[in-house]
Order: sequence, then C-alpha cells, then structure tokens
Amino acid sequence: MAASKIKQSKQIENILRYSLFSAFGFLLLTIIITQFNQSGQSFAEDSVITVYKSPTCGCCKNWITHLEENGFKVKAIDSSNLSQIKSQAGIPSGAGSCHTAFIDNYVIEGHVPANDIKKLLTEKRAVAGLTVPGMPMGSPGMEGGRVDRYSVYEFDKQGQLNEVNRY
Ligand code: CU
Ligand code: CU
Repeated sequence: MAASKIKQSKQIENILRYSLFSAFGFLLLTIIITQFNQSGQSFAEDSVITVYKSPTCGCCKNWITHLEENGFKVKAIDSSNLSQIKSQAGIPSGAGSCHTAFIDNYVIEGHVPANDIKKLLTEKRAVAGLTVPGMPMGSPGMEGGRVDRYSVYEFDKQGQLNEVNRY
C-alpha cells in the first residue's frame, strides 16, 4: 500500500518535472525564433547605405528614393570624383554606372534593385558587390521611358562578373 503510494507520487513528480522541462524548452525555442526573426528583419533598418553620386544626377536621386521606399536608410554624398571612387571600389572595367554605393562591406554599383541588395545582405555571399552596368531604361530610378532588359551581376575582387538576376 505504502509502496504503491510512493510509486504514484514518484510518477507524478516525474510528470511535473517533464512538463516543467517542456515548458522551459518551449519558452527557450520561442525566444530563439523571435530573436532570429528580428535579426532577419532589421538588416535594412540597422545598416546605412552610403551613396556617392554626382550632384546633378537625377536618376541617382530616383534610385535613392527607390531604396528608401524599400526600407533602406540612405546617406547620399555628392562627389566630383566618382571615377576615383569606382576604381578604389574595384568596379570591373566596363561594368560601371552613374553612382557607387557601400553597405556592409559590399559595393553596389548603378541601378541595382533593392531586392537584389537585400538578397545579397541576407545570403552574405563572398563577393565584392553587385552591379547593373550602364543605365538600363526601366531599372529602378530609370523609369519613364522604354523598358529594356538588363542583368544584375555580382563581382569579386578580381573583377570577375557573374550574372545573378535578369529583368
Ligand atoms: Cu543613373
Ligand atoms: Cu545614379
């Protein structure tokens, strides 16, 4: 009689212990997931994209507006020495555009769509940056006329280009 009572209370104790453990585990999991979600969302709010542009460039301004509309914080700097900035940034020859931007150690050259930048920042790819060479009509900041086909390329420090998206 007494032995079975003890056994029963042992069982109850085990059940309680188990539920306490699972409750704690669940709480821990919730915290981890919440943290993870926050870190996934906050990249654009935390980091500033610095854009070097010529003071007279209208499409640069429009591209900055496109970035801001997509959650980026933009610091725009007018420069009369863009070619020097481009060569220092390692933009492959012939793959340049009107403005040069920097975010999280990446170089963003030209009218790159915000989503491609976000993808790069999320995937943290081992490249130097992204470029949309030239100024394709219909790309972000170049709207209003024709809509041409264009590609987004990633490039490495050796100047090697690799197409990552096509519009
Ligand atoms: Cu432009
Ligand atoms: Cu521009």
